[in-house]
Amino acid sequence: MSLYAIGDLHLHFGAPLKIGHPQLKDKAWKNHEEKVQKACARLLTPDDTLVLVGDHSWGKNLGECEPDMEFIMSLPGRKILLRGNHDMFWDAKKTAALNERYAGKLCFLQNNYYAYEDYALVGTKGFTFEGPFYIDRRGRVVGWDEKNEAHAKEIVARELERLRVSFEAARADGYSKYILFLHYPPTSILEDESCFTRIAEEYRAEQVVYAHSHGETRFHDSVLGEKNGVEYHLVSGDYLKWTPAKIL
Ligand SMILES: [Fe+2]
Ligand SMILES: [Fe+2]
Repeated sequence: MSLYAIGDLHLHFGAPLKIGHPQLKDKAWKNHEEKVQKACARLLTPDDTLVLVGDHSWGKNLGECEPDMEFIMSLPGRKILLRGNHDMFWDAKKTAALNERYAGKLCFLQNNYYAYEDYALVGTKGFTFEGPFYIDRRGRVVGWDEKNEAHAKEIVARELERLRVSFEAARADGYSKYILFLHYPPTSILEDESCFTRIAEEYRAEQVVYAHSHGETRFHDSVLGEKNGVEYHLVSGDYLKWTPAKIL
């Protein structure tokens, strides 16, 4: 029995991308659905768990996403989905309805947790401030968009609260070992710690698994490797070359 993770599949079986969309021009994304399917068939058994770390589909609503959900359902093992910033089909407040609709087929992680052996898998979308940053002629950051920064702080506070609900639900059921999933990186680009790294340390999460950073220039936006007793892993699909990462 193993635990795997991958994020940012950005499927579009039910909502074809417009001609010229960057994903269609980028060779890293050529036939990526087929690569994911083959890697999962090779690696995963029905006893395994695959966490899909957000940005599942380009569809704007559940109808447009349905073929993408079918694709995810066809992968082997138990599938747990986390909410990404592009997952328009998923209203965080209506997660229970999604869990009911896909009962026995897909699990949606939000304000709840899922057990994996003696671990609790907890998580939320998270959020980071992504600028715009103002750069001087030498490439140094001399300022940033303060309105955007204030908005980011509000979303981070809400996401942190949702994450605490997830941790506390697990703790109330007796769990003390955690793997933490975030869609966004745990820190903003100029930070090496955040409320998300601090909550990971507070609950002694063994690993923080995140996605969202795709495209080579984004792979080092946040923490990677060990920091203060927590292991940080980026699992965006193109970073992993479409092969899920083994977490446990
Ligand atoms: Fe994405
Ligand atoms: Fe994203």
